[in-house]
Amino acid sequence: SVIKKVQFIKSAVNPKDYPQPKYPEVAVVGRSNVGKSSLINAIFKRNIAKVSSSPGKTRLINFFLLNDRISFVDLPGYGYAAVSKAERAKWKKMIEKYFQTRENLSLVIMLVDSRHPPTKLDIMMKEWLEDLGIPYIVVATKADKLNQSEKARTKKVIRETLGLPKDFPVFLTSAKEGTGIKELMSYVLDFLTE
Ligand code: GTP
Ligand code: MG
Repeated sequence: SVIKKVQFIKSAVNPKDYPQPKYPEVAVVGRSNVGKSSLINAIFKRNIAKVSSSPGKTRLINFFLLNDRISFVDLPGYGYAAVSKAERAKWKKMIEKYFQTRENLSLVIMLVDSRHPPTKLDIMMKEWLEDLGIPYIVVATKADKLNQSEKARTKKVIRETLGLPKDFPVFLTSAKEGTGIKELMSYVLDFLTE
C-alpha cells in the first residue's frame, strides 16, 4: 500500500496559523455533505477526518500529512442552505485567503455528487480555480448509490455541465466501498512527481 503513515497536523483559519509550506499540498473542495472528509478517510484508510450526516461539519481548514511527504487539506464545504449570510462571507474569506496565499498548493480535488449534475456553485468554484490558475481534477462521490447505467453516464454529464474537455480527469469514487480510490491516488501521485 502507498499509505504508510498518516498524521493530523492542525486546524487553522488564517494563513499565519497554517503549517510551514514544506510539502506539496492537495486540497479537497466541494459542497457541504458531498463527502470531502469521507474521501480523505478512504484515501488514508482510517477515520482521521470528522464525518457527519448533517452538512457543515468541517468548519476549519484541516491539514494532514501523508507518509511525511504530501500534505492533504480538508476544507469546509459551500452551498449549505441553512448557513447565515455572515457565515457564508466568513467561508469565502477563509477559502479565498487559502487559495491566494498557499504557495505549496499543488492540486485541488473538486468533489461533486455523482447523483446530480454539478450545481451553479460547483460551476462557480471551477471558474474560481481556473481564474486563480490552480490545477484541479474532479471527483464524483457516492458512486455506490448509482446503478450501472447511471455510472456509465455520470462523467459525461459532469464534464458537459462544468464545460470541461472530453479527456479532463474525472474520477468516480465511493468512500463507502473504496472504489475508484486507487485510480485517483495513482493520478495524484503521478501529478505531484511530474
Ligand atoms: P462538510 O464537512 O459538512 O462540508 O461535509 P463533507 O463534504 O466533509 O461530507 P462528509 O464526508 O462528512 O460526508 C457527508 C455524508 O455523506 C456522511 O453521512 C457520509 O457517510 C456520506 N458519504 C460520504 N461519502 C460517501 C460515499 O461514498 N457513499 C455513501 N453512500 N455515503 C457517503
Ligand atoms: Mg467535512
